[in-house]
Amino acid sequence: MEQKTKTRISRAQLCEEIKPGPSSIIIFGASGDLTFRKLIPSIYTLFKKNLLPEEFFLLGIARTKYTDEEYRENIKSRLLEEKEDLFIVDKFLEKIFYLSGYYNDDSLYTNLKNRLNLLDNIFKTNQNYLFYLSTPPNVYLEIIKRLGNFELTVEKEGSYSRIIIEKPFGRDLKTSQEIDKELHKYLNESQIYRIDHYLGKETVQNIMMLRFANIVFEPIWNYKYIDNVQITVAETLGVEHRAGYFEQAGLLRDMFQNHMMQLLTLVAMEPPASLEDRSVRDEKNKLLKSIRSYDKKDIDKYFVRAQYKEGFLNGEEVSAYRSEKNVNPNSNIETFVAGKFNIDNWRWSGVPFYLRAGKRLKRRVTEIAIIFKEVPHSIFAKNNLDLEQNILILNIQPDEGFSLKIQAKQPGSKLCLNTLSMDFNYNDFFKFKGPDAYERLLLDAMVGDQTLFVRSDAMDVSWKLFTPLLEKWEEQKDKGLLFYPAGSWGPIESFKLLEKDQRQWRNLELNQEGEEIRADKVF
Ligand code: BG6
Repeated sequence: MEQKTKTRISRAQLCEEIKPGPSSIIIFGASGDLTFRKLIPSIYTLFKKNLLPEEFFLLGIARTKYTDEEYRENIKSRLLEEKEDLFIVDKFLEKIFYLSGYYNDDSLYTNLKNRLNLLDNIFKTNQNYLFYLSTPPNVYLEIIKRLGNFELTVEKEGSYSRIIIEKPFGRDLKTSQEIDKELHKYLNESQIYRIDHYLGKETVQNIMMLRFANIVFEPIWNYKYIDNVQITVAETLGVEHRAGYFEQAGLLRDMFQNHMMQLLTLVAMEPPASLEDRSVRDEKNKLLKSIRSYDKKDIDKYFVRAQYKEGFLNGEEVSAYRSEKNVNPNSNIETFVAGKFNIDNWRWSGVPFYLRAGKRLKRRVTEIAIIFKEVPHSIFAKNNLDLEQNILILNIQPDEGFSLKIQAKQPGSKLCLNTLSMDFNYNDFFKFKGPDAYERLLLDAMVGDQTLFVRSDAMDVSWKLFTPLLEKWEEQKDKGLLFYPAGSWGPIESFKLLEKDQRQWRNLELNQEGEEIRADKVF
């Protein structure tokens, strides 16, 4: 019999992080919230873990006028607030620089070019540039065009020029294609890194490991054994200080078109030929293409959109979306969406995927629940005993891990069955908090690994899927917009969406001990 020949790589080798070669990161929008809250702390952590190359510098660009020193001071005070070590912080700051200017002003790019030449000479970064667009999306085109015109996107022999773009990538198919067209005038797809921070989360990456590194799940991962799949991304936060953006976007664009679709594809895609980025992204795209598209006239059958009213969250009164700062008091923007997705392929024929996401919901939880079918024949039925279905829950956050709900005998009387929850919690087991998603993604971009970034064709397919909804909701305005009290699980219609199919959302309430209500732990 033919033997499979394998080149063995040891586990230890696989666990080693690849340290990037000489690199620089240039952040547009360097005085913004994302930069201070996520990007700088992640880059600092990479520095602290010795995962940045010696030959490295960071150049921040924004309109705010700072000197290098003032910008460094700003970063320093934030890092020290987090109790970081002064010595390491000071070392890190030696690599930080700042340039101010207007994104649509050519002189900014002349200055940028000069500055990069200078820093490149000092830090020996080999003209390797990773540009990060962390600006409002309406200036993306201005920046890309000028980076291109000033030849900063040209890759010299042995050097790289890459660009990371934050979502939203446009606001519909047309605008996303416009951005893409502009990008492709100056860059190849291999230079473009569209970031979706969900892909950098440890537990999201673990979905592939769980499915494809274990033999027990794949044989039952299909329509024969799975009844339905439920994906929930519930947030307690409201719109916070992001009303300007959210009023333009709404929840469908903010969460569904990107994060939710990523979760769905990872759970539903076929095994890729290899872990190589092209194979993984091909499979994801294939899956996206198999999602049944929506006819505008049927959208109300499949989707529920709603907005939060005032309510109570953890005992505190919180205001309605329409009363939040900078929100139009008559706003029709949705803060909650629930929807049903059908995947037309062999594996998932007849298995609905129910997705819901919302702001100001009862508790923060992101999970994927795989609800299995009932046993084909119950020998317990004549005792009038309802068996609960098995459920595999992938807990993305906040309690990262997974749980399997099974039926088991409760000790004591002869025929007493109950639901047993086998729980695996990442933090308890590994005794270590995983890295922030941005650390992973920034490192991958410096190394040139695009697996965890979104490819242009996938972007198109997912915008195409949601375009009829966006159009219909825009036409309908407030007609069809529902309301839910802050601190609830969304409008009642979201529950009815599943009841129509004789199903129900998994109950995410907790009891007083902080445990799930339906997970009666008996052992
Ligand atoms: C962002 C959205 O992409 O993801 C926010 O714009 C949302 O509205 C956030 O709150 C959720 O991310 P996380 O990592 O907290 O689940």
